[in-house]
Amino acid sequence: MTLLDGKATSLAIQEELRLEVLERLKIGQDRPHLAAIIVGDDPASRAYVGHKIKACERVGFDSSLIELPLNIREDELIREVEALNNDVNVDGFIVQLPLPEHMNEQTILQAIHPDKDVDGFHPIHAGNLSLGLPSFIPATPAGIIELLERYDIQTSGKHAVIIGRSSIVGTPLALLLSRNASRGNCTVTLCHSRTQDLPSITRQADILIAAIGKPHFVTGDMIKPGAVVIDVGINRILDDSKKSGSRLTGDVDYQDAMQVASAITPVPGGVGPMTIAMLLKSTLQASA
Ligand code: GUN
Repeated sequence: MTLLDGKATSLAIQEELRLEVLERLKIGQDRPHLAAIIVGDDPASRAYVGHKIKACERVGFDSSLIELPLNIREDELIREVEALNNDVNVDGFIVQLPLPEHMNEQTILQAIHPDKDVDGFHPIHAGNLSLGLPSFIPATPAGIIELLERYDIQTSGKHAVIIGRSSIVGTPLALLLSRNASRGNCTVTLCHSRTQDLPSITRQADILIAAIGKPHFVTGDMIKPGAVVIDVGINRILDDSKKSGSRLTGDVDYQDAMQVASAITPVPGGVGPMTIAMLLKSTLQASA
């Protein structure tokens, strides 16, 4: 069984980016600058954004964190977005999701200038991706493709089953895995909450991707022997044995799955760190 080490792979990519930044500085170019807006004080979102900012420091990017209160109005948030759109020192930025209930997520995401939308969430990017045109690609699916690439996992002609149809992960990943490109050419089945007899479908998967946000949802009996299992879930569950009283776990029952799968991503240390590396890559691209 191969452990798909997203943490080590992410650090290797970050080292490549650090060297690329040094090359750019040598020829008089600026450091790439990533900004992040976070609204409210959700601990998980804060932790994710903190990891992104820290990774910027590691690779030599400039970074800015804009922290806004939970009760900020939508028009005030749009003004902050527009300020970043117009800031010539900022190459790319993200608005960390989820946003508070009183905000329309699409209104905010569509206010981001596509040239600076390094998350690739703007409809322009979603449309370009679906047409096979150049675009910023959402970092989580991009990180999964990159992990398959770096571990030389063959995808052509394979059946990839994705559980979860979110616009951030499942839907763009279905497009990426089915396109005629490296780590593409899969036959893709996109499953969701209305899918009937899910286990009978997941058991057909050569590559099984779980992106549903339910701890240990995928059990060993849902996995075809020898399948590659990609766990996108980051769920916090109670654990009395930990000092904090809780720990992170994936959407896949890892102990179960490792008996059946040929390769698997751990949680933490799998897809999560890859997401950060790919966000940095997109920011470097935005700064060119
Ligand atoms: N929330 C969970 N994942 C993401 C992501 O990739 N980008 C942003 N902006 N918010 C998220």
